[in-house]
Amino acid sequence: MPTLVHYDVTDRVALLTVDNPPVNALTPALWNAIDEAVARGVADEAVDGMVLIGAGSTFIAGADIKIFDTLRSREQCLERSAANHALLARLENATKPLVAAIHGNALGGGLEVAMACHFRIAVVSAHVGQPEVLLGIIPGAGGTQRLPRLSGAAVALEMCTGGKPVSAPDALRAGILDQVVDDDLRAGAIALVNTRAATGQIRRTRDIAITPTEAAAGLAACEKTRAALGTASRGSRAPFAVVDAIEAALTLPFDAGSARERELSADCILSTESKALRHLFFAEREVSKIPDIPKDTPVAEIRRAAVVGAGTMGAGIAMTYANAGIPVLLKEVDEAALERGMATIRRNYESSVAKGRMTPDALARTIARITPTTSYDGFDSVDVVVEAVFENMDLKKATFAELAGVTRAECLLASNSSTLDIDELATASGRPAQVIGHHYFSPANVMKLLEIVRARATSKEAVATSLTLAKRLGKVGVVVGNCFGFVANRMLAYYMREAYLLLEEGGTVPQIDRALVEFGFPVGPFGMQDIAGIDVGTRIRQYLASLGKTRAEGPQSEVPDELFALGRYGQKTGAGWYKYDAPGGRARTPDPLIDEIATRAAARRGVTRGPIEDADIVARITTALANEGARVLEEGYALRPGDIDVIYVYGFGFPRWRGGPMFYADTVGLPVILARVREYRERFGDYWRPAPLLERLVAEGRGFYGQAQRSA
Ligand code: 3HC
Repeated sequence: MPTLVHYDVTDRVALLTVDNPPVNALTPALWNAIDEAVARGVADEAVDGMVLIGAGSTFIAGADIKIFDTLRSREQCLERSAANHALLARLENATKPLVAAIHGNALGGGLEVAMACHFRIAVVSAHVGQPEVLLGIIPGAGGTQRLPRLSGAAVALEMCTGGKPVSAPDALRAGILDQVVDDDLRAGAIALVNTRAATGQIRRTRDIAITPTEAAAGLAACEKTRAALGTASRGSRAPFAVVDAIEAALTLPFDAGSARERELSADCILSTESKALRHLFFAEREVSKIPDIPKDTPVAEIRRAAVVGAGTMGAGIAMTYANAGIPVLLKEVDEAALERGMATIRRNYESSVAKGRMTPDALARTIARITPTTSYDGFDSVDVVVEAVFENMDLKKATFAELAGVTRAECLLASNSSTLDIDELATASGRPAQVIGHHYFSPANVMKLLEIVRARATSKEAVATSLTLAKRLGKVGVVVGNCFGFVANRMLAYYMREAYLLLEEGGTVPQIDRALVEFGFPVGPFGMQDIAGIDVGTRIRQYLASLGKTRAEGPQSEVPDELFALGRYGQKTGAGWYKYDAPGGRARTPDPLIDEIATRAAARRGVTRGPIEDADIVARITTALANEGARVLEEGYALRPGDIDVIYVYGFGFPRWRGGPMFYADTVGLPVILARVREYRERFGDYWRPAPLLERLVAEGRGFYGQAQRSA
């Protein structure tokens, strides 16, 4: 067994060094090892005080998240957290000064351990936080009771409901830390122990009194937070449990408040919401692990980039590179198009400055990294080119052929196509090993998803480089296969097909959007399309029709094409599925005209419109996603169900706390999903065909994630 906490004495101070790579996560064995090390220091006559410090790159990043899966009942959860509470009480009751010395991160249980120490010192670059809510749980080792005592309720509420870590200087100001040092943390911590030991000082966080005035202000802050969460949490429950627990800290003695925290924590750990969020935590990290691409695959360094095409996508992609500090050439065919692209970029940055998200200095520095050009000059020194020209195969092929002539042989050639065959582009370039899809989502500088499309001849180095580059650009890169629409848009076509058909059957645009927003999406399908532009979808449909193809099997609703013909492209034209206050405006009202168009379209297909329940809307749409997702998986275009979940959460705002479409299907139960597909087939026609994988999993009694699971 490796030593989890090293014990060394220097100058009558015991250094307790936590050593559980990579992030010193608190396993049960580590909790015990900390307990034993502190007890040893207390009993050691050669020691006057102790420093708890982390080995490696961080202090303690929290409890080991995998442990929560082993807790199956409320009793087990309560037992575990009671044991942790008792352990932290022993730390706090230590009779010699105990200092937590923080570098890297003190997160979750890591901050809770630090708050049970008598004093806290950190290096200036460190961060502390209670991110449990992002995992659907609440701080369960006294964090909701100790943090308000140190920082006051308002800061504790913000940290525990938002989950965002705060910097060491901010934590010092908030009273969470006692001291911040620029460098030598160890020496600083030893000095702090020595001064406290000399004067016999010990401060127990639990003993800090909350005055009646502070409690009253804290309770008001709790109410305010609950009201704000009403809309911001989009159906997630954990943030509310956090507020309840902090409220208990303000109204109950420490031990009673801690008991309340344990109960709330147990309910959260067992919730489907938390299982979903924990699943995503690991799925997000797994996406960068590709079975046939070893970890040590060489990765090209990206020092300079180029983007071809300065339309909405090209401009957003150039901004993404500039934001990450990478100089980028932005090429267009003529000055006018280039100027339009640069104007979009300037407008976006200026709006960030106006919102206080960027300083004017940063704007100047960032925009200077983008060099507009109408020629290929300088392309011979870039490491990656992203092609973002109009979605037309001939144009793209010609561009790839040109690019191969003006770039170095090892330069990565990426296409931002959302639909076209990357193999064809690879052939056109004559350099297929370097050709890959980098499919960004609109707005490219904001959306975190990057679909990395691996074509037949794409080299392993090109995939590995793209994954590393995605991280550097602040994106979550998911490797997918080269099928039509790749994974995100292929599944979206089924999502949209159902939205249109539900409208024809009698649902209304506001009702369908509302049902999906209540389910947890930030925006419904029609609202989303009004933002993206109805013209985009229609042009793709027209292009496909010219090839004799459709995006999704089944009837193609004519309603969106009628809106297109009326020039109703969405927000940008002031009308689409909704009416807007002005072109580009956001204030929208429902438009009775849509119902008239839908009624006529339904009549043409022999469908009589009638009322539809919200629950049926959600069932139809999520079933379509799961069924098509199963096909994508079986055909090997996504490596794992988790990859699809990550794509949907980051690309289309599928509610995180439901885990993504595949995880959600498991929680509903695949037998239910399959029964629905069969029922829809009866009702609507053969285009509803169960995916073979879905049928097989149900026959084997399994879910997408192995063990079949159902929500409570
Ligand atoms: N438990 C288990 N594994 C963890 C972990 C944790 N708390 N934190 C990180 N890891 C693992 C990751 O899965 C990853 O494993 P892999 O290499 O096999 O994929 C590895 O550690 C490195 O993590 P990252 O890839 O995320 O590394 P980064 O350097 O990008 O980020 C980090 C480091 C900021 C610490 C980030 O990992 C993180 O945010 N971790 C989770 C922090 C957290 O949520 N803590 C709260 C846990 S719940 C809790 O403490 C309950 C308490 O109230 C009792």
